[in-house]
Amino acid sequence: KIVPVVLAGGTGTRLWPLSRNALPKQFIALTSEFTLFQDTLLRTPPGADFHEPVIVTNDDYRFYAQRQAARLGLKPTIILEPARRDSAPALVAAAAYVARRYGPDTPVLALASDHVVLEPEKFREAVAVAADAAALGYIVTFGIAPDSPRTSYGYIKLGEPLGVAGAYAVDSFVEKPNAEAAQRYLDLGYLWNSGNFLFPAGLLMSEAAAFEPEIAANAAAAVELASEDIGFIRLDAAAFQAAPAKSIDFAVLEHTEKAAVVRGEFTWSDVGSWDAVQEIGATDGNGNVVKGAVVLQDCKDAHVRSDGPLVACIGLEGVSVVATDDAVLVMPSDRSQDVKGLVSALKKSN
Ligand code: GDD
Ligand code: MG
Repeated sequence: KIVPVVLAGGTGTRLWPLSRNALPKQFIALTSEFTLFQDTLLRTPPGADFHEPVIVTNDDYRFYAQRQAARLGLKPTIILEPARRDSAPALVAAAAYVARRYGPDTPVLALASDHVVLEPEKFREAVAVAADAAALGYIVTFGIAPDSPRTSYGYIKLGEPLGVAGAYAVDSFVEKPNAEAAQRYLDLGYLWNSGNFLFPAGLLMSEAAAFEPEIAANAAAAVELASEDIGFIRLDAAAFQAAPAKSIDFAVLEHTEKAAVVRGEFTWSDVGSWDAVQEIGATDGNGNVVKGAVVLQDCKDAHVRSDGPLVACIGLEGVSVVATDDAVLVMPSDRSQDVKGLVSALKKSN
Protein backbone atom coordinates (compact mmCIF):
# COMPACT_ATOMS: atom_id res chain seq x y z
CA LYS A 1 0.00 0.00 0.00
CA ILE A 2 1.06 3.54 -0.79
CA VAL A 3 1.30 6.25 1.89
CA PRO A 4 0.05 9.59 0.53
CA VAL A 5 2.13 12.43 1.97
CA VAL A 6 0.51 15.80 1.46
CA LEU A 7 2.80 18.83 1.49
CA ALA A 8 0.66 21.63 2.82
CA GLY A 9 3.07 24.17 4.24
CA GLY A 10 3.54 26.56 1.32
CA THR A 11 2.10 30.04 0.79
CA GLY A 12 0.57 31.46 -2.39
CA THR A 13 0.84 35.22 -2.69
CA ARG A 14 -0.21 35.49 -6.34
CA LEU A 15 -3.79 34.65 -5.38
CA TRP A 16 -4.21 37.68 -3.13
CA PRO A 17 -6.66 38.77 -1.72
CA LEU A 18 -8.05 35.26 -1.25
CA SER A 19 -4.77 33.58 -0.41
CA ARG A 20 -2.86 35.13 2.51
CA ASN A 21 0.01 34.06 4.71
CA ALA A 22 -2.59 33.35 7.38
CA LEU A 23 -4.75 31.31 4.98
CA PRO A 24 -2.76 30.02 2.01
CA LYS A 25 -4.31 28.83 -1.19
CA GLN A 26 -4.36 25.09 -0.44
CA PHE A 27 -6.94 25.66 2.31
CA ILE A 28 -9.30 27.66 0.06
CA ALA A 29 -12.13 26.37 -2.15
CA LEU A 30 -10.96 27.79 -5.47
CA THR A 31 -12.63 25.72 -8.14
CA SER A 32 -14.86 23.18 -6.40
CA GLU A 33 -16.92 22.86 -3.23
CA PHE A 34 -13.83 21.44 -1.53
CA THR A 35 -10.56 23.19 -0.82
CA LEU A 36 -7.52 22.30 -2.94
CA PHE A 37 -6.12 20.45 0.07
CA GLN A 38 -9.34 18.44 0.45
CA ASP A 39 -9.48 17.64 -3.26
CA THR A 40 -5.90 16.40 -2.94
CA LEU A 41 -6.89 14.09 -0.09
CA LEU A 42 -9.93 12.85 -2.02
CA ARG A 43 -7.66 11.76 -4.89
CA THR A 44 -6.09 8.99 -2.78
CA PRO A 45 -8.83 7.49 -0.61
CA PRO A 46 -7.65 5.07 2.10
CA GLY A 47 -8.50 1.48 1.19
CA ALA A 48 -6.96 -1.25 -0.92
CA ASP A 49 -4.35 1.00 -2.57
CA PHE A 50 -3.65 3.75 -0.05
CA HIS A 51 -2.97 4.09 3.67
CA GLU A 52 -4.44 6.99 5.67
CA PRO A 53 -2.56 10.13 4.61
CA VAL A 54 0.37 11.82 6.28
CA ILE A 55 0.11 15.60 6.18
CA VAL A 56 3.15 17.82 6.66
CA THR A 57 2.44 21.44 7.33
CA ASN A 58 3.52 24.49 9.24
CA ASP A 59 2.50 24.80 12.87
CA ASP A 60 0.42 27.87 11.91
CA TYR A 61 -1.87 25.85 9.67
CA ARG A 62 -2.44 22.87 11.94
CA PHE A 63 -6.12 23.50 12.61
CA TYR A 64 -6.98 24.10 8.97
CA ALA A 65 -5.34 20.80 8.07
CA GLN A 66 -6.95 18.94 10.96
CA ARG A 67 -10.49 20.25 10.44
CA GLN A 68 -10.50 20.01 6.68
CA ALA A 69 -9.25 16.41 6.78
CA ALA A 70 -11.69 15.48 9.56
CA ARG A 71 -14.60 16.82 7.51
CA LEU A 72 -13.74 14.19 4.90
CA GLY A 73 -13.84 11.47 7.55
CA LEU A 74 -10.06 10.88 7.37
CA LYS A 75 -7.74 9.96 10.21
CA PRO A 76 -4.49 11.49 9.03
CA THR A 77 -1.15 11.75 10.76
CA ILE A 78 -0.30 15.46 10.91
CA ILE A 79 3.38 16.36 11.17
CA LEU A 80 4.11 19.97 12.16
CA GLU A 81 7.10 22.05 11.10
CA PRO A 82 8.27 24.65 13.62
CA ALA A 83 9.66 26.88 10.83
CA ARG A 84 9.60 27.29 7.06
CA ARG A 85 12.37 25.31 5.39
CA ASP A 86 10.75 24.73 1.97
CA SER A 87 9.78 21.31 0.68
CA ALA A 88 12.97 19.22 1.01
CA PRO A 89 13.22 19.12 4.82
CA ALA A 90 9.44 18.60 5.05
CA LEU A 91 9.44 15.71 2.59
CA VAL A 92 12.57 14.04 3.96
CA ALA A 93 11.07 14.23 7.46
CA ALA A 94 7.87 12.63 6.15
CA ALA A 95 9.89 9.89 4.45
CA ALA A 96 11.77 9.25 7.71
CA TYR A 97 8.47 9.01 9.54
CA VAL A 98 7.02 6.57 7.00
CA ALA A 99 10.21 4.46 7.01
CA ARG A 100 10.02 4.16 10.80
CA ARG A 101 6.34 3.36 10.91
CA TYR A 102 5.88 1.14 7.84
CA GLY A 103 9.43 0.22 6.77
CA PRO A 104 11.93 1.79 4.32
CA ASP A 105 10.57 0.01 1.24
CA THR A 106 7.11 1.54 1.69
CA PRO A 107 6.05 3.58 -1.34
CA VAL A 108 5.39 7.24 -0.58
CA LEU A 109 3.27 9.40 -2.87
CA ALA A 110 4.28 13.00 -2.24
CA LEU A 111 1.44 15.31 -3.22
CA ALA A 112 1.39 19.05 -3.68
CA SER A 113 -1.67 20.27 -1.81
CA ASP A 114 -2.46 23.27 -4.00
CA HIS A 115 -3.04 21.88 -7.49
CA VAL A 116 -6.14 21.09 -9.53
CA VAL A 117 -6.37 17.65 -11.16
CA LEU A 118 -9.57 17.27 -13.13
CA GLU A 119 -9.61 13.50 -13.72
CA PRO A 120 -8.72 11.68 -10.48
CA GLU A 121 -9.18 8.29 -12.20
CA LYS A 122 -6.46 9.07 -14.71
CA PHE A 123 -4.32 10.40 -11.90
CA ARG A 124 -4.62 7.08 -10.04
CA GLU A 125 -3.78 5.17 -13.23
CA ALA A 126 -0.54 7.15 -13.51
CA VAL A 127 0.11 6.48 -9.81
CA ALA A 128 -0.27 2.73 -10.36
CA VAL A 129 2.35 2.81 -13.14
CA ALA A 130 4.61 5.00 -11.01
CA ALA A 131 4.32 2.57 -8.08
CA ASP A 132 5.64 -0.26 -10.26
CA ALA A 133 8.53 1.92 -11.42
CA ALA A 134 9.29 3.12 -7.87
CA ALA A 135 9.55 -0.51 -6.73
CA LEU A 136 12.50 -0.88 -9.13
CA GLY A 137 14.34 1.76 -7.10
CA TYR A 138 13.28 5.09 -8.60
CA ILE A 139 12.01 8.46 -7.51
CA VAL A 140 9.18 8.79 -10.00
CA THR A 141 7.93 12.15 -11.23
CA PHE A 142 4.71 12.85 -13.14
CA GLY A 143 5.36 14.71 -16.39
CA ILE A 144 2.86 17.07 -17.99
CA ALA A 145 2.91 18.07 -21.67
CA PRO A 146 3.86 21.76 -21.59
CA ASP A 147 2.06 24.46 -23.55
CA SER A 148 4.32 27.46 -22.90
CA PRO A 149 7.86 28.23 -21.71
CA ARG A 150 6.94 28.82 -18.06
CA THR A 151 9.92 29.54 -15.84
CA SER A 152 8.19 28.57 -12.60
CA TYR A 153 8.28 24.83 -13.31
CA GLY A 154 10.76 22.00 -13.41
CA TYR A 155 11.57 20.53 -16.85
CA ILE A 156 12.12 16.84 -17.49
CA LYS A 157 13.98 15.24 -20.38
CA LEU A 158 12.73 11.71 -21.01
CA GLY A 159 15.32 8.97 -21.26
CA GLU A 160 15.16 5.23 -21.95
CA PRO A 161 11.96 3.30 -21.25
CA LEU A 162 12.14 1.33 -17.99
CA GLY A 163 10.99 -2.25 -17.49
CA VAL A 164 7.54 -0.90 -16.65
CA ALA A 165 5.26 0.14 -19.52
CA GLY A 166 4.70 3.91 -19.47
CA ALA A 167 7.70 4.71 -17.29
CA TYR A 168 10.96 6.28 -18.48
CA ALA A 169 14.28 7.13 -16.94
CA VAL A 170 14.89 10.87 -16.53
CA ASP A 171 17.81 12.09 -18.64
CA SER A 172 17.88 15.46 -16.98
CA PHE A 173 15.81 17.51 -14.59
CA VAL A 174 16.10 21.29 -14.58
CA GLU A 175 14.23 23.28 -11.94
CA LYS A 176 12.95 26.76 -12.82
CA PRO A 177 15.12 27.50 -15.87
CA ASN A 178 15.49 31.01 -17.29
CA ALA A 179 13.15 32.04 -20.12
CA GLU A 180 15.60 31.20 -22.90
CA ALA A 181 16.31 27.70 -21.59
CA ALA A 182 12.59 27.09 -20.96
CA GLN A 183 11.83 27.87 -24.61
CA ARG A 184 14.61 25.50 -25.71
CA TYR A 185 13.27 22.70 -23.49
CA LEU A 186 9.79 23.28 -24.89
CA ASP A 187 11.13 22.92 -28.44
CA LEU A 188 13.06 19.78 -27.46
CA GLY A 189 9.95 18.05 -26.09
CA TYR A 190 10.77 18.12 -22.39
CA LEU A 191 7.86 17.67 -19.96
CA TRP A 192 6.87 19.88 -17.04
CA ASN A 193 7.32 18.40 -13.60
CA SER A 194 3.90 18.35 -11.95
CA GLY A 195 5.38 18.54 -8.45
CA ASN A 196 4.14 15.12 -7.28
CA PHE A 197 6.54 12.23 -6.64
CA LEU A 198 6.43 8.52 -5.85
CA PHE A 199 9.39 6.76 -4.20
CA PRO A 200 10.33 4.13 -1.62
CA ALA A 201 10.67 6.04 1.69
CA GLY A 202 14.23 4.87 2.28
CA LEU A 203 15.36 5.85 -1.22
CA LEU A 204 14.45 9.51 -0.74
CA MET A 205 16.34 9.48 2.56
CA SER A 206 19.48 7.97 1.03
CA GLU A 207 19.42 10.26 -2.01
CA ALA A 208 18.93 13.27 0.27
CA ALA A 209 21.84 12.03 2.39
CA ALA A 210 24.02 11.84 -0.73
CA PHE A 211 23.28 15.33 -2.05
CA GLU A 212 22.13 17.31 1.01
CA PRO A 213 23.55 15.61 4.09
CA GLU A 214 22.58 18.50 6.37
CA ILE A 215 18.96 18.30 5.29
CA ALA A 216 18.90 14.51 5.57
CA ALA A 217 20.50 14.34 9.02
CA ASN A 218 18.51 17.17 10.56
CA ALA A 219 15.18 16.10 9.10
CA ALA A 220 15.73 12.54 10.35
CA ALA A 221 16.75 13.82 13.79
CA ALA A 222 13.68 16.06 13.89
CA VAL A 223 11.56 12.90 13.51
CA GLU A 224 13.60 10.87 16.03
CA LEU A 225 13.17 13.62 18.63
CA ALA A 226 9.60 14.56 17.69
CA SER A 227 6.95 14.94 20.39
CA GLU A 228 3.29 14.04 20.36
CA ASP A 229 0.84 16.82 21.03
CA ILE A 230 -2.89 16.00 21.10
CA GLY A 231 -3.25 14.56 17.65
CA PHE A 232 -0.18 16.21 16.12
CA ILE A 233 3.42 15.14 15.72
CA ARG A 234 5.71 18.07 16.42
CA LEU A 235 9.11 17.86 14.75
CA ASP A 236 11.97 18.71 17.06
CA ALA A 237 12.48 22.45 16.61
CA ALA A 238 16.24 22.66 17.06
CA ALA A 239 16.96 19.82 14.65
CA PHE A 240 14.47 20.96 12.02
CA GLN A 241 15.63 24.57 12.11
CA ALA A 242 19.17 23.38 11.48
CA ALA A 243 18.09 21.99 8.09
CA PRO A 244 18.91 24.34 5.19
CA ALA A 245 15.85 25.70 3.36
CA LYS A 246 15.62 24.15 -0.10
CA SER A 247 12.98 22.67 -2.35
CA ILE A 248 13.05 18.95 -3.07
CA ASP A 249 13.54 19.78 -6.74
CA PHE A 250 16.80 21.67 -6.21
CA ALA A 251 17.92 19.43 -3.33
CA VAL A 252 17.40 15.99 -4.87
CA LEU A 253 15.67 15.85 -8.26
CA GLU A 254 18.28 17.90 -10.11
CA HIS A 255 21.07 15.62 -8.86
CA THR A 256 19.77 12.10 -8.52
CA GLU A 257 20.48 9.42 -11.13
CA LYS A 258 17.46 7.53 -9.86
CA ALA A 259 14.72 9.75 -11.24
CA ALA A 260 12.04 8.31 -13.49
CA VAL A 261 8.98 9.83 -15.11
CA VAL A 262 5.46 8.73 -15.94
CA ARG A 263 3.32 10.88 -18.20
CA GLY A 264 0.27 12.37 -16.54
CA GLU A 265 -2.62 12.25 -18.98
CA PHE A 266 -4.89 14.09 -16.55
CA THR A 267 -5.80 17.77 -16.82
CA TRP A 268 -3.50 19.53 -14.40
CA SER A 269 -3.04 23.08 -13.20
CA ASP A 270 -1.03 24.47 -10.33
CA VAL A 271 -3.45 27.42 -10.29
CA GLY A 272 -0.52 29.66 -9.49
CA SER A 273 -2.20 32.89 -10.58
CA TRP A 274 -5.71 34.22 -11.19
CA ASP A 275 -5.60 33.69 -14.96
CA ALA A 276 -4.79 30.02 -14.33
CA VAL A 277 -7.77 29.74 -11.98
CA GLN A 278 -9.94 31.32 -14.67
CA GLU A 279 -8.59 28.95 -17.30
CA ILE A 280 -9.52 25.81 -15.34
CA GLY A 281 -12.93 27.09 -14.20
CA ALA A 282 -16.28 26.20 -15.81
CA THR A 283 -17.54 28.98 -18.08
CA ASP A 284 -21.02 30.26 -18.85
CA GLY A 285 -22.08 30.80 -22.50
CA ASN A 286 -20.03 34.00 -22.71
CA GLY A 287 -16.76 32.67 -21.38
CA ASN A 288 -17.31 34.07 -17.90
CA VAL A 289 -16.12 32.24 -14.80
CA VAL A 290 -17.95 33.15 -11.60
CA LYS A 291 -17.94 31.96 -8.00
CA GLY A 292 -19.93 33.18 -4.99
CA ALA A 293 -22.37 36.08 -4.80
CA VAL A 294 -21.93 37.49 -8.31
CA VAL A 295 -24.30 39.02 -10.86
CA LEU A 296 -23.13 39.76 -14.41
CA GLN A 297 -24.72 41.78 -17.16
CA ASP A 298 -23.27 41.89 -20.69
CA CYS A 299 -19.90 40.54 -19.58
CA LYS A 300 -17.50 38.46 -21.67
CA ASP A 301 -14.49 36.41 -20.57
CA ALA A 302 -14.77 37.95 -17.13
CA HIS A 303 -13.60 36.19 -13.96
CA VAL A 304 -15.57 37.38 -10.96
CA ARG A 305 -15.66 35.84 -7.50
CA SER A 306 -16.81 36.96 -4.11
CA ASP A 307 -16.36 35.46 -0.69
CA GLY A 308 -18.01 38.49 0.81
CA PRO A 309 -20.42 41.09 -0.58
CA LEU A 310 -22.63 40.74 -3.64
CA VAL A 311 -20.59 41.81 -6.66
CA ALA A 312 -22.45 43.11 -9.70
CA CYS A 313 -20.67 43.86 -12.97
CA ILE A 314 -21.80 45.41 -16.24
CA GLY A 315 -20.01 45.24 -19.58
CA LEU A 316 -16.70 43.80 -18.42
CA GLU A 317 -14.46 42.00 -20.88
CA GLY A 318 -11.29 40.12 -19.96
CA VAL A 319 -11.37 41.54 -16.44
CA SER A 320 -10.89 39.75 -13.12
CA VAL A 321 -12.60 40.79 -9.90
CA VAL A 322 -11.82 39.06 -6.61
CA ALA A 323 -13.74 40.28 -3.58
CA THR A 324 -13.29 39.26 0.06
CA ASP A 325 -14.65 40.83 3.23
CA ASP A 326 -11.76 43.23 3.58
CA ALA A 327 -10.15 43.62 0.16
CA VAL A 328 -11.13 43.75 -3.53
CA LEU A 329 -8.85 43.17 -6.51
CA VAL A 330 -9.79 44.42 -9.98
CA MET A 331 -7.47 43.98 -12.98
CA PRO A 332 -7.28 42.97 -16.62
CA SER A 333 -7.01 39.18 -16.42
CA ASP A 334 -3.73 39.20 -18.35
CA ARG A 335 -2.08 41.21 -15.56
CA SER A 336 -2.41 38.29 -13.11
CA GLN A 337 1.36 37.90 -12.79
CA ASP A 338 1.57 41.41 -11.33
CA VAL A 339 -0.33 40.49 -8.16
CA LYS A 340 2.84 39.23 -6.50
CA GLY A 341 4.47 42.67 -6.89
CA LEU A 342 1.33 44.35 -5.63
CA VAL A 343 1.38 42.22 -2.49
CA SER A 344 5.03 43.09 -1.81
CA ALA A 345 4.20 46.77 -2.23
CA LEU A 346 1.24 46.44 0.16
CA LYS A 347 3.41 44.72 2.75
CA LYS A 348 5.94 47.55 2.60
CA SER A 349 3.31 50.27 2.91
CA ASN A 350 1.83 48.70 6.05
N1 GDD B 1 5.10 21.16 4.45
C1 GDD B 1 5.61 22.06 3.64
N2 GDD B 1 6.60 22.88 4.11
N3 GDD B 1 5.16 22.15 2.40
C2 GDD B 1 5.70 23.08 1.60
C3 GDD B 1 6.71 23.95 2.00
C4 GDD B 1 7.18 23.85 3.36
O1 GDD B 1 8.06 24.58 3.83
N4 GDD B 1 7.04 24.75 0.96
C5 GDD B 1 6.26 24.38 -0.05
N5 GDD B 1 5.42 23.36 0.33
C6 GDD B 1 4.40 22.67 -0.45
C7 GDD B 1 3.45 23.63 -1.13
O2 GDD B 1 2.30 23.87 -0.32
C8 GDD B 1 3.09 22.86 -2.39
O3 GDD B 1 2.01 21.99 -2.16
C9 GDD B 1 4.34 22.03 -2.68
O4 GDD B 1 5.05 21.95 -1.46
C10 GDD B 1 5.25 22.63 -3.77
O5 GDD B 1 5.79 23.85 -3.31
P1 GDD B 1 5.77 25.17 -4.20
O6 GDD B 1 6.46 26.24 -3.42
O7 GDD B 1 4.39 25.47 -4.70
O8 GDD B 1 6.71 24.75 -5.42
P2 GDD B 1 6.74 25.37 -6.86
O9 GDD B 1 5.37 25.53 -7.39
O10 GDD B 1 7.59 26.58 -6.83
O11 GDD B 1 7.52 24.24 -7.72
C11 GDD B 1 7.16 22.87 -7.66
O12 GDD B 1 5.94 22.62 -8.34
C12 GDD B 1 5.97 22.85 -9.77
C13 GDD B 1 4.61 22.52 -10.35
O13 GDD B 1 3.63 23.32 -9.80
C14 GDD B 1 8.31 22.08 -8.28
O14 GDD B 1 8.15 20.72 -7.98
C15 GDD B 1 8.41 22.30 -9.79
O15 GDD B 1 9.39 21.44 -10.35
C16 GDD B 1 7.05 21.99 -10.42
O16 GDD B 1 7.10 22.21 -11.84
MG1 MG C 1 3.50 25.53 -6.59
